[in-house]
Amino acid sequence: MSYSYQIKTQEAYELAYRESVQYPEVFWERIASTFTWQKKWDKVLDWNFDQPSVKWFEGGKLNITENCLDRHLQKYGNIPAIIWEPNHPSESHRVLTYNELHVKVTQFANVLKNNGVQKGDRVCIYMGMIPELTIAMLACARIGAIHSIIFGGFSAQAIADRLEDAKAEFIITCDGAYRGAKEVPLKAVVDEALVGNTIIKRVIVYNRLNMPVSMVADRDVYWEEEVRKVEMQGNPDCPAEVMDAEDMLFVLYTSGSTGKPKGVVHTIGGYMVWANYTFVNVFQYQPGQIHFCTADIGWITGHSYIVYGPLSAGATTLMFEGIPTWPDAGRFWDIVDKFKVDILYTAPTAIRSLMGFGLEYVKDKDLSSLKVLGSVGEPINEEAWHWFYNNIGKEKCPVVDTWWQTETGGVLISNLAGVTPGKPSFATLPLPGVQPCLVDEHGKEILDNHVSGNLCIRFPWPGMIRTTYNNHERCRQAYFSTYENLYFTGDGCVRDEYGNYRITGRVDDVLNVSGHRIGTAEVENAINSHTGVIESAVVGYPHEIKGQGIYAYVIYNGTPEDIELSKQAIHQTVSRMIGPIAKPDKIQFVPGLPKTRSGKIMRRILRKIAEGETSNFGDTSTLLDPTLVDSIRAGKI
Ligand code: PRX
Repeated sequence: MSYSYQIKTQEAYELAYRESVQYPEVFWERIASTFTWQKKWDKVLDWNFDQPSVKWFEGGKLNITENCLDRHLQKYGNIPAIIWEPNHPSESHRVLTYNELHVKVTQFANVLKNNGVQKGDRVCIYMGMIPELTIAMLACARIGAIHSIIFGGFSAQAIADRLEDAKAEFIITCDGAYRGAKEVPLKAVVDEALVGNTIIKRVIVYNRLNMPVSMVADRDVYWEEEVRKVEMQGNPDCPAEVMDAEDMLFVLYTSGSTGKPKGVVHTIGGYMVWANYTFVNVFQYQPGQIHFCTADIGWITGHSYIVYGPLSAGATTLMFEGIPTWPDAGRFWDIVDKFKVDILYTAPTAIRSLMGFGLEYVKDKDLSSLKVLGSVGEPINEEAWHWFYNNIGKEKCPVVDTWWQTETGGVLISNLAGVTPGKPSFATLPLPGVQPCLVDEHGKEILDNHVSGNLCIRFPWPGMIRTTYNNHERCRQAYFSTYENLYFTGDGCVRDEYGNYRITGRVDDVLNVSGHRIGTAEVENAINSHTGVIESAVVGYPHEIKGQGIYAYVIYNGTPEDIELSKQAIHQTVSRMIGPIAKPDKIQFVPGLPKTRSGKIMRRILRKIAEGETSNFGDTSTLLDPTLVDSIRAGKI
């Protein structure tokens, strides 16, 4: 593959950026034309941010799997598409070439068809990080089904909520998953999620661990047996379904500041172009290189930079089943050494955690194959940036600090590796096609440099969110109603004197814990469902490794002796309702919550107390009971 649109110099970046702003349609048409389409689009872009309605390449017909698989086969069929490293280092790794991946995807696409999955159906996928997860996604896309992947750490209740919202009729799962020393029983969690569910028609189970599972007659089938049936049927091929550019590719649930997680919808044409364009440019991928993104496919990073970006570019993507610290904190470096990884894309939380183990685990590893390092998911502090740059990249690999969101489909603001300069803790400059702006709290645009404000985007880019599943109004409310004619990111941001952007974190009630997005409202709902809890308020506080920790203030109706037990029980409740990732790091029992006379909790004060502030709580005169602040502060953990 060669990438005619790969930006190779700073001047080329500036030129591309200017053109993308002045003539966006000409710009994106040229890039989209390098992909395989069954029919060309009638119109490049049609949009308004009021409704909102955003359509890219309308009238175009394509199938993303032809772009990720078929088009590579003739010339690059024998190069590795996926290298898979298992959880346990003593188990053999697997390599799937593009030819092999194509066969497996088409076979499994036929399995889906045999099991009644049709174009437009929602298929929920709840699996560990094994190649079959990628195969399942691509098989859905092959036949035009919409995949909705749920991260393997979410609980039965969280799955049930998502299934209900997506009206999914099919689930693909595994008996279990390895996670370090643990074996996680995925099928059992699915079974629990399905108690009382009458919509699910089929559960397809891949056997990864040989763990005993209970199979429900007429509902549950084994992956391997279904594949065998397809093999017996003879023709393993499955022609790619002809899809509209604006048909849904996937739904991915993410937390917002209110209510339950929302299903972010991405559509085929624009998302494909964006995932590919950003992959090729941000990481400066060169054919033959090995790209290792350490995210889980259950999050958007895995969707875009393990699967769709790399595979659409004919790249070799490395999938890792395990965790960075098991069997020891050298696991990532062993993998880099073993496969001679070129590009390593990971999260600040992983860097900080590995940093804490010291250089002992790095020192004997050959990391000389590395050319590019990447960071994603949360602000990277300067210390972690320097550790990564110095000790992993040996001061020769550019670090790309990529800012983006589930809703943006791919990277929006980042330096381009080795092409545009990086700056520690700054995502730096927008990619071509991205028009950021900063606004103050009244929605007035801040035009100067050396300022801070709320980050918005004023023009559509191909990979942007189209709607929230089954609830378009929620999409409008969440992203397009705060500021007129702007997409609001929910992030606060600084712009330095040269126009570089530094994302400082969420300005809404969304937490970012170890790079995982969690709504405070969701955690509060979970805590409140616990017996004895009268009310709670959850805020974030700075956490050395996780970036943000979860601090819960709880009004609890119980005796002091119950307190320790109650904390454990609250943890269990949160794990059951959401998943272990949402467990509060600190729980403080309080006599009341600081509320205004109109009953609104003043979170600003709770945040300050959690951050360790002892005074400077700002104006507290509107509080119903100002004395509460002192007693809460006195009880701070
Ligand atoms: O606050 C920003 C933070 O992560 C949020 C998006 O979370 P999610 O949708 O889960 O996607 C994470 C992976 C793309 C953003 O609103 N964030 C993401 N990347 C960065 C970041 N904050 C600072 N710097 C980044 N590079």
